[in-house]
Amino acid sequence: MDAQNHWEKIYTEKGPIAVSWYRPHLETSLELIERVAVNRSSSIIDVGGGESTLVDDLLARGYEDITVLDISSTAIEANRKRLGDAAERVHWLVADITESDLPPSRYEVWHDRAVFHFLTAPGDRVAYVRQVARAVKNGGYVIVSTFGPEGPTKCSGLEVVRYDAESLHQEFGVHFRLLGSSKELHQTPFGTTQQFLYCYCRVE
Ligand SMILES: C[S@@+](CC[C@H](N)C(=O)[O-])C[C@H]1O[C@@H](n2cnc3c(N)ncnc32)[C@H](O)[C@@H]1O
Repeated sequence: MDAQNHWEKIYTEKGPIAVSWYRPHLETSLELIERVAVNRSSSIIDVGGGESTLVDDLLARGYEDITVLDISSTAIEANRKRLGDAAERVHWLVADITESDLPPSRYEVWHDRAVFHFLTAPGDRVAYVRQVARAVKNGGYVIVSTFGPEGPTKCSGLEVVRYDAESLHQEFGVHFRLLGSSKELHQTPFGTTQQFLYCYCRVE
């Protein structure tokens, strides 16, 4: 099964709070986005946003230029439905991030929670980093969260690559200045925990 069919199947079969990565709010993501996106007009893209409430929380904080991209049209539709009229204030993209055609220098903040770690083929990781380098403005910020060194080896039936701050930063290279990293123990809706790593960088 290809990646798109896999994720369509997940979101068709499972409700938004029945997936291991669910949290009512992505607190760490929000805190980091607010730290780097000082202006409410900052353009923010949430890559592989799934059905998370990050977009709701960003709208509630007054952010005016939000894009949510996901490979699953089911997930994007669920977000639109949940948000109702407010969905009109968001740019929605159904695309595979390794192949999509994002406009150059369009975003000030790139956010990804639990997407990059699914790219087990080196060529896909190179394609992803190329997208970031193209689509994020110089001086913009990249926030990426993956499973940490003690995190699970699989998620949603797919193999993942686990990272520490150094190995994740190495994937991105010298044009991304690492500003900070932290680890988080995520409580899944099933009562288990998963170690996540958060890194944030400035594009130089
Ligand atoms: C584990 S979920 C995380 C969802 C959300 N970021 C969160 O933290 O709740 C991974 C998400 O990435 C999306 N995804 C997986 N591979 C992708 C790709 N190549 N391009 C775009 N989205 C992708 C999936 O559809 C899914 O919504």
